[in-house]
Amino acid sequence: MKAIQFNEVGGPDVMKIVDIPKPELRPRMVRVRNHAIGINFADNFFRQGTYLVRPKLPDTPGMEAAGVIDEVGPEVKSLKPGMRVAGIGLKTYAEYSLFYENQTIPLPDFVSFEEGAAFPIQTLTAWFMIHVSHRLSPGQTVLVHSAAGGVGLVAIQIAKAAGARVIGTVSSDAKIAIAKQYGADEVINYETQDFAKEVMRLTDGKGVDLNLDAIGKPTFEKGLECAASFGHIILYGRAGGPPDKLDLNRLFPKALKVSGFVLFTASSQHDLMRQGTEACFNLMKEGKLKMVVGKTFPLEQAPEAHRFMQSRQSVGKLLLLP
Ligand SMILES: NC(=O)c1ccc[n+]([C@@H]2O[C@H](COP(=O)([O-])OP(=O)(O)OC[C@H]3O[C@@H](n4cnc5c(N)ncnc54)[C@H](OP(=O)(O)O)[C@@H]3O)[C@@H](O)[C@H]2O)c1
Repeated sequence: MKAIQFNEVGGPDVMKIVDIPKPELRPRMVRVRNHAIGINFADNFFRQGTYLVRPKLPDTPGMEAAGVIDEVGPEVKSLKPGMRVAGIGLKTYAEYSLFYENQTIPLPDFVSFEEGAAFPIQTLTAWFMIHVSHRLSPGQTVLVHSAAGGVGLVAIQIAKAAGARVIGTVSSDAKIAIAKQYGADEVINYETQDFAKEVMRLTDGKGVDLNLDAIGKPTFEKGLECAASFGHIILYGRAGGPPDKLDLNRLFPKALKVSGFVLFTASSQHDLMRQGTEACFNLMKEGKLKMVVGKTFPLEQAPEAHRFMQSRQSVGKLLLLP
């Protein structure tokens, strides 16, 4: 099969297209013939050897894909060959990949392979942060950083569907319209404006109840400034570098809460996964949540796709097509 591999960690060009055997089935796993493969910002970190999961060289990037089950391994109970599925796993930049049964999501008919590949990581991350880590109530105000990105556009829609007011931040005026198109009430260009001051102005000095921050160093500190009393900041990435150490005394005056999030904590819990998946598919069926595929690339153009993602010009989800 065709797959992307890298023999050394480094920039996008370490990734090459190769011909390797299909992955061998293991117990509790299914093998999927991928039709669309999701690209995630963390794939950059994996390729550079700085992600939570370290590559074992030569390795293949990728954490999600959608396609058709080719074969099921021993002990698989609920899945059969021929089923349309999406999955969270490893080494998905390939024509075939393996997924554990409990991280394989059967796709309803109304969800295409492209939507299926765009769904698992970014959408479930947004849903779990908004509804499990935070338990958002109608009327609360949510700040979504990188609002036109993959997680950003789905987080806006999920928060709006829950009755929140959403303020987005983006790094260029070109991205403002798309964040508004998917429901953001206000969008701040944080390259040209001080987002904390602007948030305080837009909320009449109250601040935001929830701040979804995957940028880190450039935004975290200011997030404390524009949090509402009893506000909650969820740190779930570090696209701009890890934040400075937090002095816990900063939390007292406004009774703030800071938490971290990584999807694997939730995706390894079967009941939680089913709850999040059902809720998101229901929102999609009701037309309240759309997967926004910003751009697709042929599998062999994985280096171009990574360069594009790092350029900060991408909007929505990026996919590879094998
Ligand atoms: N914890 C988890 O389980 C989890 C799961 C999924 C994603 N994430 C995190 O969520 C964030 C978004 O992921 P995504 O896959 O949806 O990517 P994305 O938002 O589509 O793309 C990354 C965006 O980050 C922003 N950014 C800010 N500083 C940047 C920098 N120094 N270099 C490059 N980009 C920068 C850019 O938007 P602007 O320029 O408009 O800000 C860029 O478009 C990432 O940090 C990712 O690691 C975490």
